[in-house]
Amino acid sequence: MSTGTPYYITTPIYYVNDQPHIGHAYTTLACDVLARFMRLDGRRVHFLTGTDEHGQKVEKSARAAGVDPLEFCDRVSQNFRDLAVAMNFSNDDFIRTTEPRHIASVQAIWNELKERGQIYLGSYAGWYSVRDEAFYAEGELVDGKAPTGADVEWVEEPSYFFRLSAWQQPLLEFYAANPDFIAPESRRNEVVSFVRSGLHDLSVSRTSFAWGVPVPDDPDHIMYVWLDALTNYITAVGYPDTGSEDFRTFWPASLHMVGKDILRFHAVYWPAFLMAAGLQPPQRVFAHGWWTIEGQKMSKSLGNVVNPRDLIDRYGLDPVRYFLLREVPFGNDGDFSDRQMVHRLNGDLANDYGNLVQRVLSMVAKNCDGRTPQPGLLAAADTALLGRTGALLPTVRELLLEQQFHRALEAVWEVVGAANRYVDEQAPWTLRKTDPPRMATVLYVLAETIRRLALLTQPFMPQASAKILDQLGVPDDRRGFADLGAGSALVAGTPLPKPEGVFPRHLDPAAA
Ligand code: MSP
Repeated sequence: MSTGTPYYITTPIYYVNDQPHIGHAYTTLACDVLARFMRLDGRRVHFLTGTDEHGQKVEKSARAAGVDPLEFCDRVSQNFRDLAVAMNFSNDDFIRTTEPRHIASVQAIWNELKERGQIYLGSYAGWYSVRDEAFYAEGELVDGKAPTGADVEWVEEPSYFFRLSAWQQPLLEFYAANPDFIAPESRRNEVVSFVRSGLHDLSVSRTSFAWGVPVPDDPDHIMYVWLDALTNYITAVGYPDTGSEDFRTFWPASLHMVGKDILRFHAVYWPAFLMAAGLQPPQRVFAHGWWTIEGQKMSKSLGNVVNPRDLIDRYGLDPVRYFLLREVPFGNDGDFSDRQMVHRLNGDLANDYGNLVQRVLSMVAKNCDGRTPQPGLLAAADTALLGRTGALLPTVRELLLEQQFHRALEAVWEVVGAANRYVDEQAPWTLRKTDPPRMATVLYVLAETIRRLALLTQPFMPQASAKILDQLGVPDDRRGFADLGAGSALVAGTPLPKPEGVFPRHLDPAAA
């Protein structure tokens, strides 16, 4: 196990009212890449995902399916686990809010808040949207609907309230002291102005449905599903045992990754609940954008919901992983189309990266007796290319700490481009006749460049990168980022397996 600086990363937990689609896969994929990167970088990682199983929305879906809520949750939750396997996600834990460990944790945080005078009994009269699982004030409604377009219903019932209003000032101070807490910056500004405009106490229990965690000592009340759901992030590291090794190691979380639609819950309510319970807020919340499909919102009624499995079947897993994080600047909305996908895969993967690997490895197979070539003295062009790969790690690390996936990939691909230009300039096929030792040096420099590139692409494309590293004869225990340096460089004379293409070309759907 790694001993480096802890890194705790979480996905939102997914509502089990829906089948997993590309939007869900996207959120977890971004976390998976970060988790893999940090592990390879020597950090001690805890990567959490799971399912959000309580509340009216899930109760309603279970009823519509004609099954008992828990049975319904078991079934749909399994689909999310299966998705994680299909997408090759490396989560360390999968939490379900119906698990005993979580119910105990939610009740413990409730008691803590109650003891600290942060929760009081009152009565709620206002609007509620089951789809959003959110309360709305009269003034927030637009044409009788929630600002998100969801239907609302009038609710009037006894309710416990959390003293959110008391946390307005502490939250503003917290945001000011932690400028990186909310990203991207535009979203941060939205949250700050929302909090500045004033916070009302928040209804945190309901009496009109049953599917949820009962309030301790007052079981007629079911806890508000967002208080229940958000608490998963601490349950998974041992709460209420704040003295446990996991809690001390991993809390506060390094990053909660969320979609832009649920930022308010994570950047306003959650830090307020935590501070009110005497716990530290997470270090960062990043709100990413939404995918539309060929220009349209994904919806069951339009029948355009993209199932990640169909994409994987069509394009292969790693190309899909690459596309989702390369195509759209992380934080922005993006549009999915097969044309764009094919364009990216043929360009960046087949032509640029794949072709580099293929050209070099087949020249090595043909001209160097299938062994890692023996380099001679390095020329300026050789050290320049190797120097560029050497400089990549700090750049990629910095960009990933800011969740700039597309820019990190862009930086790697600049070196892929430089390596392809080096092949053309050095023309090893000509050197084969004129200067074989120089050809061996050039091919060695290229193979070593590819080794370093493949180490760095592992978090994004684990299987394809492993295939490349296998073809270079890189041992499994030499694939961390500590091995990027010359100390782990390719060893001349190592017998190599027969090269095989890694990134196939696709037919342009427009031309098909
Ligand atoms: N259960 C809550 C989260 C609780 S976290 C304590 C929830 N679940 S969800 O299943 O509705 O959404 C989970 C995530 O999927 C959100 O981050 C949401 O933004 C993301 N996406 C859902 N559709 C999406 C797209 N079309 N595109 C990108 N992400 C999308 O909210």
